[in-house]
Amino acid sequence: MDRSTPDWLIHDYREDDLAAVVHLIDTTAELGQESVFSLAECITALTSRQPAVVAVSRGVPIGAALAHLAGDRAWVMRIAIAPAWRGRGLASALLRELERRLVAQHVRRIAYVLPEEELLGEGLRNAGYARRPAVAYFEKTEPAAGPAAGLLEELGGRLLPGDLWDKVAGMEAEKTLIERRVVLPLAEPERAARHGVRPPRAIALFGPPGTGKTTFARAVASRLGWPFVELLPSRLADEGNLAAALRSAFARIAQLERVLVFIDEVEEIAPTRTEGVAGGMHGVTNELLKLIPGFREGEERLLVCATNSIRSLDPAFLRPGRFDYVIPIGTPDAAARAAIWSRYATAGQDVDLDALVAASELFTPADIEHAARIAAQTAFERDLGGSGTGAAGATTADHLAAMAQCRPTVTPAMTEEFTADIGSHARV
Ligand SMILES: Nc1ncnc2c1ncn2[C@@H]1O[C@H](COP(=O)(O)OP(=O)(O)OP(=O)(O)O)[C@@H](O)[C@H]1O
Ligand SMILES: [Mg+2]
Repeated sequence: MDRSTPDWLIHDYREDDLAAVVHLIDTTAELGQESVFSLAECITALTSRQPAVVAVSRGVPIGAALAHLAGDRAWVMRIAIAPAWRGRGLASALLRELERRLVAQHVRRIAYVLPEEELLGEGLRNAGYARRPAVAYFEKTEPAAGPAAGLLEELGGRLLPGDLWDKVAGMEAEKTLIERRVVLPLAEPERAARHGVRPPRAIALFGPPGTGKTTFARAVASRLGWPFVELLPSRLADEGNLAAALRSAFARIAQLERVLVFIDEVEEIAPTRTEGVAGGMHGVTNELLKLIPGFREGEERLLVCATNSIRSLDPAFLRPGRFDYVIPIGTPDAAARAAIWSRYATAGQDVDLDALVAASELFTPADIEHAARIAAQTAFERDLGGSGTGAAGATTADHLAAMAQCRPTVTPAMTEEFTADIGSHARV
């Protein structure tokens, strides 16, 4: 409640304010109090309990401000002020109250996009908002999403950011292979067809933990611009019968126009049938074996299965008609480690990359990321303690000490096993 302004009271939006707020938004749009958000979007925000405040004078709503949250950023959607109350500081008061609620919900940045000539601009500067120079607001209207959008949501799927492929550091050999065999034939099917190349429909990635299998699956989806749906056996099993749940998930997936389906730790649902019998997995393996041919008939779809333990997969599962490629993802070589280290250790200016690369043999990308995080934390704490110069960040010694603290995930025995698996299972 804003006590410095006795002319009005500001309260949290309540359901019974809806009609009045809609009326305010609707009528003030003609007065130039426009917004990049439509009335329908404002109503959706209000009804889905996004933060909003309403100003009332003598029981009559005279202004409203509403926002919607997106992670740690909030967008102010609209501040609507009844005409008689303009120019009296009500907009600032509403904004202040709205900000308090946003901060309480851990918002770090608040954005407000205004029509260029909108008078509020001055007030916003006074309220501590900086105008982003040289920013223009672009908008594209996509055709209605149709039922696929709902389906995708049901499946827990989503479109990933577009830059994940470029963010995979190093791993050039695996990257090149996956790009040529998988990404390009799917991205350019006509060109591939001219050469008799059939785009893959299913691939398996195998290798020790933390080498980047999930990262590659996501990067491929990102590169293709396809939605990413991860089927989690543990979640599917919640629905009771795992085989039936898989069948129903694949039926829904079949309705999507394009999709990358990811199944991690696939050995859990398709173990060698003799081993799996005890866990009752036999039926599930069979179900998956039956589902893959149907999945393969569609275009613009790719199934990616990942496993740490390729040898415990049912051999029938991996055969060529089902999986086009069985690709090993191993620990990074020196060049790849250099690329990954420079991704994670760039805060320190004079880090001796060669020393880090040499000391991190058998480290996975996940191990490197972890060690770099420990080193960064050490530097941060030194800075807080006042014993550092403040700017330097983690040093080579910090990184080496961090590495000594964390055991590499992959042991020489695992590497040996992996090399053997490449011989017996890889198909690239
Ligand atoms: N090439 C890379 N460059 C930079 N970071 C990477 C790279 N590969 C993996 N990482 C990072 O390492 C971590 C582990 O990667 P990821 O989860 O893809 O491994 P994984 O092989 O799927 O492991 P698991 O077998 O345990 O599922 C992630 O935080 C990821 O961001
Ligand atoms: Mg993984």
